[in-house]
Amino acid sequence: GSHGSVGKSSRHYVPLDYTQMTDYAKAVVESVSPAPDEISMKNTTLRRITEICNNLVPGSRVIPFGSLVSGFATKGADMDLIFAHDSLDPQPFSHESNIPVRLAGEFLKRGFEVDLLIRTRVPILKIKTPGSEPGSRPGSPSAEEVLKEDLGEEPWPENISCDIGFKAHLGITNSYFFRTYSQCDPRFREMVLFVKQWSKNRDLNSPYFGTLSSYGYVLMVAHFLINVVQPPILPNLQLIPPEPDTPESELMQDGFSIWYFKDVSKITSGELLPGAKNEMELGQLLYEFFQYFTTNFNFVGEVVTIRTPGGVMYKQEKGWTSARERVGETTTYQDRYLLALEDPFEITHNVGRTCGGPGVRRIRGEMQRAAQIIRKVSTPVAPESPATAA
Ligand code: CTP
Ligand code: MG
Repeated sequence: GSHGSVGKSSRHYVPLDYTQMTDYAKAVVESVSPAPDEISMKNTTLRRITEICNNLVPGSRVIPFGSLVSGFATKGADMDLIFAHDSLDPQPFSHESNIPVRLAGEFLKRGFEVDLLIRTRVPILKIKTPGSEPGSRPGSPSAEEVLKEDLGEEPWPENISCDIGFKAHLGITNSYFFRTYSQCDPRFREMVLFVKQWSKNRDLNSPYFGTLSSYGYVLMVAHFLINVVQPPILPNLQLIPPEPDTPESELMQDGFSIWYFKDVSKITSGELLPGAKNEMELGQLLYEFFQYFTTNFNFVGEVVTIRTPGGVMYKQEKGWTSARERVGETTTYQDRYLLALEDPFEITHNVGRTCGGPGVRRIRGEMQRAAQIIRKVSTPVAPESPATAA
C-alpha cells in the first residue's frame, strides 16, 4: 500500500542479530513490572476504597480503568478509578453535589493526602494513602493512631495514589479493549512497557508539557503490531463483525461505536491470524517500531487510526488539518493535529493533541536516536550465508 510496511520486504537487507537488544528490553520490562504483592496491595486498596464509598453513598460502585485494567501498569503506577452511582443520574456529580467534597473528607480523616480538582469539567479527587514517616505536624496524632482509635481500621498500604473521577466514560471501555488486545500476544505488553519507560526516561511522556500520554504510545504500538509489522502480530479486533444478536450496550456508547471482538479463546488459538506466525523477538520489533515512526509514518499528513483497515488515514480525510488549529473556533481549548492519533472509540478525539511542535520534533528525534542505538548494538548475523562468504 502507500503506507510503508515493515517486514521481509523492508529496506535493510543485512539481517541483524537482535539478541542483545532483546535481552536488554526484557530486563527493562522485568524491572518496571509490578511485583505480585504490589498487585494484591492495590486490590486491597480498591476494596477498602469501595467500602468507604459504599458507606457514604449506599449502592455506589468504584470502577477501575487505565493501566490497572489493561495490564500496562508499571511499578508504583497510580490507580485510575471512577465513582459511579446509578440512581443519582442524570446529573449525579455536578458541581453543586457535595459527594466529592464529602468523600474527600472521608479520606482526609484517615490521614490521606487529598486534592480535589473542581475546576475540571467533572471533579477529580486525587488521594494518596499515608506513608510510613511519622506525622510532620508535631503534636497531631499519627494517621495510624486515628485509624485504630477513632475508626477501628487497619493501616493502609503505604503511598498508593489514586485518581477518582465522578463520571463514567469511554476510558473504561478502552482499558478493557487493550486488555483484550494484550491477551492476543505477550509481545504487545512487553513493547508497551518498554516504550512507556523509554518515553519517561527521555522526557517524552508529559501530556501537560507538550508531549504524549502513555495512552498515546499504546496507540502507536498497537498500530505497529496490527498494521505495520509483517506478518501482523495482532488481528484488528474492531474489523471482525459482531454477531446479529449482540446487545446494543456492546455496540454503542455515548454515540460512538464501541464494538470489538472479545472471544479470547478464538484470539489465543491464533485462528484470527491464519498463515505464518510472526516469530520476531522483542529487540527486532522495537527496532522496526522506532524505524517505522522515524522513516515510514508521515507525521505531517497522516493519522494513526487503529480501527480502520491499514490503520492510517490522511488528516485531510478527517478534517484534522493544522489550519483548524489557527482558526481556534472554541474559546476553551485549542485542537492541535501536529501528531494525530485517533482514539479507537471516541474518533473525534486526537490523543496526540497534547503535543506541540517542539514535542513532536523531540519525539521523532528520540525515536531516530533509539533506532540508531539498536542498530549499533545489533551486529550483522554471523557468516554461513553465501552472501557474506563471497
Ligand atoms: N485515557 C483516555 N484518553 C486519553 C488519555 C487517557 O481515554 N487521551 C484513558 C485510557 O483508558 C488510559 C487511562 O486513561 O488507559 C490512563 O491513561 P494514561 O495515564 O495515559 O496511561 P497509564 O497506563 O495510566 O500510564 P502511566 O503509568 O504513565 O500513568
Ligand atoms: Mg495513569
